Amino acid sequence: MPVPAALAVELRARNEAPSRTPMHRHYLMCPPQHFTVEYSINPWMDPNTPVDTELAMAQWQELKRTYERLGHTVEVIDPQPGLPDMVFSANSGTVIDGRVLGARFRAPERAAEAEHFRRWFSMRGYRELVMPSRTNEAEGDFAWTGELLLAGCGFRTDPEAHAEAQEALGVPVVSLRLTDPRFYHLDTALFVLQHGPHPQVAYYPEAFSPGSLKVLQRLFPSAVIGSAADAECLGLNAVSDGKNVVLPMEATDLAEQLSERGYAPLLLDISELRKSGGGPKCCTMELRD
Ligand code: ARG
Repeated sequence: MPVPAALAVELRARNEAPSRTPMHRHYLMCPPQHFTVEYSINPWMDPNTPVDTELAMAQWQELKRTYERLGHTVEVIDPQPGLPDMVFSANSGTVIDGRVLGARFRAPERAAEAEHFRRWFSMRGYRELVMPSRTNEAEGDFAWTGELLLAGCGFRTDPEAHAEAQEALGVPVVSLRLTDPRFYHLDTALFVLQHGPHPQVAYYPEAFSPGSLKVLQRLFPSAVIGSAADAECLGLNAVSDGKNVVLPMEATDLAEQLSERGYAPLLLDISELRKSGGGPKCCTMELRD
């Protein structure tokens, strides 16, 4: 039996996800030429697990190519021997409106990365460049919504670094406490889907303290909520340009929810990088010039 016209229109309206507009992005990435897991500073890292550096490189290349195919600009910083985690460029700087707040790593094994990135910024002509005095793992723990800087603490970034970020970048900071060691950086449990005056995020509630969860519910009442399965493959470590969302291929629940909301999920294999506790977002620093 044919569906009456009025009902058909209503059904279509209900099914039609809003159309999304991608925004051009500028990223900084670091090839995993020296990638290994030779120390353990988070529960994902087991120095006894063999790592295939060539495979990591192939997965990283695919990530970079994906951004380029989407029309984004990707810059590359030279990798350094002896710094296996340098591939996670997101941890080395927070750039908003051309102002840069560098990094200060908690683990001595990663400390030297901060200076390589500082030099890169300075060489590239970033004039307003501040290096933090407190432990600050940059976009690992800072997520910019276009209005607010969501800031994680609990495992890596010092809560005092949140105030320092507010001062250095001149943006309002909202502190959020992480409580599950598997989700040691904010970007393992939350990402910004949509920037701007009506920002939208996706997050995994179980990673946050009760008070911080209430803050997220208040700020983003219609956020996309990730499942345990999404979180356990580091599915929340995703990168959105406002329409296209790059995420680990195992994050199928999340991908489905995103499609329903009009986003275009792009699933990538990042299994080698995950052995170090990283995903697409960790490998991608956003340069908001
Ligand atoms: N092995 C690195 C560490 O533990 C992984 C960092 C991943 N980066 C991120 N933004 N979550 O520091």
